[in-house]
Amino acid sequence: MIKTLREEADKNNIFIGAAVNTNLLDKDRDYTNLLKTEFNMVVPENAMKWHTLRPEKDVFDFVQADKLVSFAEENKMAVRGHTLVWGATMPDWFNKLSPGEMNKSLEEHINKVVGRYKGKIYAWDVVNEAFDDSGEYADSHLIKSVGPKYTEKSFRLAKKADPTARLFWNEWGADRINKRSDKFYKIVKTALLKNVPIEGVGFQMHTGLGWPKTTTPLPDIDSVRENFERFAKLGLEIHITEMDPQIEEAEGSFEEKLKKEARFYGDIMSMVLQIPQFKALLQWGVNDKYSWVSTWLTHKDDAPLMFDKDNKPKLAYYAVKKALGNNIKLHI
Ligand code: XIL
Repeated sequence: MIKTLREEADKNNIFIGAAVNTNLLDKDRDYTNLLKTEFNMVVPENAMKWHTLRPEKDVFDFVQADKLVSFAEENKMAVRGHTLVWGATMPDWFNKLSPGEMNKSLEEHINKVVGRYKGKIYAWDVVNEAFDDSGEYADSHLIKSVGPKYTEKSFRLAKKADPTARLFWNEWGADRINKRSDKFYKIVKTALLKNVPIEGVGFQMHTGLGWPKTTTPLPDIDSVRENFERFAKLGLEIHITEMDPQIEEAEGSFEEKLKKEARFYGDIMSMVLQIPQFKALLQWGVNDKYSWVSTWLTHKDDAPLMFDKDNKPKLAYYAVKKALGNNIKLHI
């Protein structure tokens, strides 16, 4: 009997997940069926971001976030909450606040949002994309107003609001050893010495086969392993949180691009299965039809996910399943 990716993931005691556009859950039945059949973890693509949850200072809108959490419960899927504080995308009304008001609003937000889903969230991305590629804190009104200590404050607040959720720091462009991941490592290591409750790190893995035309080059697997292992040695759980390698700009025919993509998915999956602290791999989207790469990032038709526009499994899907299957055989 052909096993689903979800069954292979369960057998390996890890999560294979997808970012969900909650507007599609009751609009696209094939999308929804694929999601609950092939994945055992979900993360909201936008439903738990400030601009969705808090369109105005005193207005909270939980409709989309509630929908995702209920869907996950109905289908026995784990939930990654995304994201409690992301300096670069705070709403305009927030960026106009004084430092004192920002701190108060951040506290109110974390208490209300984390409190609402207490016991229902496997892991929260507490802090998202705090650094830039030069290895400095990314510029934002938040960092200018309250400084880097917003990160420590947010973790302590989230831990109090829900002691059961694993608390993660999630970063872009820090997948391999580089200036950004070095800063990330240094800051997290220092914070742990001050008992800041950071329990895991998320690596977004937004990369591309067609570098330098694509945003970030495909990382060298050994550099990713070395990077993940140093964070794992800090006792942290490791997740790949937003994988979606762009292939549009790559050399060769479409078939050749799909083969390269599958090799990358397979190599990454095989490598992380050798790291005991690795617990979850999520792709950023469910199928290529709705991928943000085409709709938001490059505005070019691309195919970065394990399922095509017609919800058909791609070579990448079989490469990931094969790596999971091989891992089981290894450990029997
Ligand atoms: C993206 C969503 O996919 C888009 O729909 C939205 O318009 C912008 O944000 N890093 C993150 C994600 O942490 O939340 C971003 O998601 C992609 C980059």
